[in-house]
Amino acid sequence: MEVIIKPDTHAAARLAARKIAAVIREKPGAVLGLATGRTPVETYERLVELRRTEGLDFSRVTTFNLDEYVGLDPKHPASYHAYMEGVLFSKINLDRGRNYLPDGLSTDVPKTCREYEDRIRAAGGIDIQILGIGSDGHLGFNEPSSSLASRTRIKTLTDRTRKDNAAFFGGEDKVPRHVITMGLGTIMDARVCILMAFGRKKATAVAQAVEGPVTAMVPASILQMHPAAIVLIDDEAASELKRADYYRWVYDHKPAWQKD
Ligand code: PGA
Repeated sequence: MEVIIKPDTHAAARLAARKIAAVIREKPGAVLGLATGRTPVETYERLVELRRTEGLDFSRVTTFNLDEYVGLDPKHPASYHAYMEGVLFSKINLDRGRNYLPDGLSTDVPKTCREYEDRIRAAGGIDIQILGIGSDGHLGFNEPSSSLASRTRIKTLTDRTRKDNAAFFGGEDKVPRHVITMGLGTIMDARVCILMAFGRKKATAVAQAVEGPVTAMVPASILQMHPAAIVLIDDEAASELKRADYYRWVYDHKPAWQKD
């Protein structure tokens, strides 16, 4: 794992966007794995800016989102379909036939999940996967106790996650209980993973995921087994890391050719 600690969320978002842009420039038909939530919003804003200022070309890019709520209409403002439309899809030059999110209205969820996995495989696999982390350590919507080898499937949210996301729905009781999420095995197949986390509220989950044991009770800890996982966090999210000074030193002394 490479742990990169930036002084603030802006610097972290700029770096994440630069890393995604580098993948697209190197491989114009890249496959991006996308996350929702508060954490990646500014990264998407920076990508929109790169489109506008540098002409970053998304026309051959394919995207797969991590998850979606079951039973929520894609037009519902709290759906991840609506989120992606609002923050990114409507603002860049994507080929609209190649942006995939799990279908929360599916009437055959196991089939929908199998097809999602097939589609990722057919696209050649995910080149770079953006990830957030739940305050309970979840990755995607893989809640604690998720199989470390899981694939796309239905999951039940914990009360803590429903509380964390209550603001988007106007109350905890309105947050759906079920979601479709890529599994931890699906996420681990991505060639590069970037886990982002900001703020004091994420510090414990980040410390457990980075420095604790690999355990299904902290699903994000599975990234310790990933060959190319980057943990990109701000000072506050790093505040419980025992080896924060070491990670800072390593990053600051990376040879120039290895930077970013
Ligand atoms: P957040 O959610 O970005 O809104 O904090 C992250 C997550 O639940 O994975």
